[in-house]
Amino acid sequence: MNSLSLRRAGVRAVPLLAAVALVSGCRQDMHDAPRFTALQQNPFYADQRSARQLIEGTVARGQLRDNDIFYTGMTAPNTPVALIPMTVTRETVERGHDRFNVYCAPCHGRTGEGNGMIVQRGYKQPPSLHDGRLRASGAGYFYDVMTRGFGNMPDYAAQITPKDRWAVVAYIRALQLSQNATLADVPEQDRGALDAGGKPGPSHTPGEGAAEGAPKHD
Ligand code: HEC
Repeated sequence: MNSLSLRRAGVRAVPLLAAVALVSGCRQDMHDAPRFTALQQNPFYADQRSARQLIEGTVARGQLRDNDIFYTGMTAPNTPVALIPMTVTRETVERGHDRFNVYCAPCHGRTGEGNGMIVQRGYKQPPSLHDGRLRASGAGYFYDVMTRGFGNMPDYAAQITPKDRWAVVAYIRALQLSQNATLADVPEQDRGALDAGGKPGPSHTPGEGAAEGAPKHD
């Protein structure tokens, strides 16, 4: 190789090296992307926050809570709505039954007497859901207790959706009725079954709540 061809090779190598340097430089730029990490300061804005505040009135899609009574259970501060503010069907009550047994029965017992397993193991005993004061409470009161908690009782707002909370209220009303029903509440054609000592429904003996679900041997 003479000196000329060597120089030529050198001339060719220089742009190649430059290109390699450029490409690797680009890669590094990608790694150091101009972005802010969460809660990082940004002196550009007067409030120094990099994350901008939501524009006032912004609502996440599908989460506009434009019905105060439905979402708070109150018609005015400390004034629970008397009736459940949605249509209650058989499915509603069954859903409430299901949620009640998951989230409330461990303390309140399956019948609402206040003798759930956690209470039997030493947790503060809640009042019976059948006491006169709670029977007379508006539907919104129960919704509010679930939403915000009460005394020693934690709230269940994160676990139970607003609609399901109302379903639980519907089931509490059914429980309350079950413990205070009169003969007049039994449809005429079914009364014969009572007289004949017909099959009773699920037992509501106080103290039994926690044992329910376990196999029974007569
Ligand atoms: C971890 C146990 C526990 C669970 C679970 C629980 N509660 Fe309670 N609840 C309590 C206790 C304890 C009290 C009494 C609190 C107090 O007086 O400090 C109470 C009180 C109440 C009261 C009565 C408030 C009053 O005015 O006296 C209602 C109504 C109620 N709970 C509803 C529910 C419902 C509905 C659920 C299910 C979504 C539920 N609770 C789940 C423990 C529980």
